[in-house]
Amino acid sequence: MGKLKVGVVGVSRGGSYMMKYARNARTEVTAICDLDEKRLEAVSKDLNLSDNQVFTDYDAFINTDVDIVVVGTPIPFHAEQSVKALDAGKHVLSEVTAANTVEGCKAIYDAAKRSKAKYMLAENYIYFHFIKEWKKYIDAGKIGNIHYAEAEYIHDIRNLLINTDSGETFWRKYRPPIHYCTHCLGPLMYLIGDDDYIVKATASGNKNTIQEGLWPSTIDMQVALFETKKGRGIKICRSQVTPRPEPHTVYYSVYGTKGFLENTRHGGETVGSRYFEGEDTHRGKLINCYQTEIEAPDYAKGGHGTSDYYLSEAFLDFIQFDKTPPTTVDRAMEITLPGLIAHEAAVQGNVWLDVPHFTD
Ligand SMILES: NC(=O)c1ccc[n+]([C@@H]2O[C@H](COP(=O)([O-])OP(=O)(O)OC[C@H]3O[C@@H](n4cnc5c(N)ncnc54)[C@H](O)[C@@H]3O)[C@@H](O)[C@H]2O)c1
Repeated sequence: MGKLKVGVVGVSRGGSYMMKYARNARTEVTAICDLDEKRLEAVSKDLNLSDNQVFTDYDAFINTDVDIVVVGTPIPFHAEQSVKALDAGKHVLSEVTAANTVEGCKAIYDAAKRSKAKYMLAENYIYFHFIKEWKKYIDAGKIGNIHYAEAEYIHDIRNLLINTDSGETFWRKYRPPIHYCTHCLGPLMYLIGDDDYIVKATASGNKNTIQEGLWPSTIDMQVALFETKKGRGIKICRSQVTPRPEPHTVYYSVYGTKGFLENTRHGGETVGSRYFEGEDTHRGKLINCYQTEIEAPDYAKGGHGTSDYYLSEAFLDFIQFDKTPPTTVDRAMEITLPGLIAHEAAVQGNVWLDVPHFTD
């Protein structure tokens, strides 16, 4: 089997997967595309690419013989670029979230269903070491049937909304905090299992008192409640402006009929706690919640613990061995759409709204 040819559009965050695929024995990076010519020049030197492998024009880039397109551009470009790649028969690994509108999500979903190529959402937090460990406990029945789950992703990125010295603003200024929900819903829905999905959403959080202007990205905090088809409750909490120095919060808890699992709010490599009825004492037990895979080889380390590496491998296994990953196009939509609808619910005054489900 020859090496899969990888093209990367958006070489900032996309550069993380680009470097992994450049070093991977199964792949080679043969084309890159970005609007920023200086960035392209630097990257093409690093990868030893020739001029005819470097593009500012996406349509010309997509016409090359790449097998895979990594979509690493700002979210508002994901729908158009993913659809064009899928229609050209290229496998797509798209950065999160899938799209910033319901229409964009539907366009990607339809393109993935009509294409012979595969689509996967790059929701990397599912590949945190502790999430994979929790999945094994849950599948073994240790906490019984999950009835409630919650997550918080509190990350002060005011510097990515505006450069306060120059006044320059960036694409994230259009993104309400709750739109960026897949780091929360990705792991939670993975733990709950693929036979359930969110059907209803409401949310509160519509005011910006911490930082004026740049609404909706500067909304102080948005808290969303969701209900699943099977009646489970989910709560997620998001802010991208509330003052909270690093380490930022990536917090999860899942409650079942026989116990619970949770990590702490203080950063990545931390302790958490659990209670497994019949196994742990009534005080529960402290557990390690490492994002990094303990036994990972050196080349896998770095990139949100080791999650970026395991995700990049899962995408190749999906293409080459038809091994289904957690975030096929169906699940990509199920963890993106609830955030879009939750923001709409907050704007309308905390109403409950139905979340579209394209496979129904
Ligand atoms: N999974 C994660 O942990 C994680 C972390 C950071 C960012 N992201 C995601 O990665 C994506 C990119 O974020 P970022 O932080 O790299 O943004 P960024 O603004 O730093 O970089 C975006 C890059 O895309 C280029 N670009 C913009 N519009 C383009 C277009 N139409 N065609 C080609 N190139 C274009 C820009 O020149 C820039 O190089 C977003 O979807 C974001 O949500 C994910």
